[in-house]
Amino acid sequence: MKIENIKACVFDAYGTLFDVNSAASRCKVKLGSKWEGFANAWRTTQLEYTWLRSLMKKHKNFWEITEDSLDHTMETFKIKKEMKNELLDLYKKLSPYSEVKECLEGLKAKKIKIAILSNGTPDLLKGLVKSNNIQNYFDDIFSVESVGIYKPDSRVYEMPIKKYDCKPENICFMSSNTWDVSGGGVFGYNAVWVNRLNKVFDKLSYKPRHVINNLEELLKII
Ligand code: LAC
Repeated sequence: MKIENIKACVFDAYGTLFDVNSAASRCKVKLGSKWEGFANAWRTTQLEYTWLRSLMKKHKNFWEITEDSLDHTMETFKIKKEMKNELLDLYKKLSPYSEVKECLEGLKAKKIKIAILSNGTPDLLKGLVKSNNIQNYFDDIFSVESVGIYKPDSRVYEMPIKKYDCKPENICFMSSNTWDVSGGGVFGYNAVWVNRLNKVFDKLSYKPRHVINNLEELLKII
């Protein structure tokens, strides 16, 4: 089923365009067999801190939260303190998934606006697209720092519709994070779940209308 009347394709960043496990994966040798468990725990703690801080109304930016959650996870997994700066540096240069460039290229050819909507700070997001040489594809980069609260607060999802002066259904929103698909979908976006790992969707009274296995498949439904 094709998605009609789209004004912009808006992408989540971490986990959707960029592989959040690529930082720890580059330290596989030093971290040993626990690297994947460590990477998943770091990501889960990081997200929990965004939700908890939003509920507590004690905002800290995503870089500070990334560092706090790394401290917690390193302590839990008994990782040597010397690795902290290496892991943080790698987090600033996460790799995109292999099909990202092709997807962005295809969307550009269709003359659709392309944007990022992310928890990341403006500097982090600019650095990520630049270090991966994909900065020229994006018309806008929306960061939660403009509204001071994290996804899935509706103020975050409002940013693109204000900028593009359109309705939520005119936004095609891609995320691999199930809770973010629910957040955007409940807000009214045409939400597309990028289900790379064949996972089960959340039980949050919302079902995504579109599910793809990778971003290349987006070009078939847009
Ligand atoms: C982001 C997180 C949710 O980029 O992945 O907003």
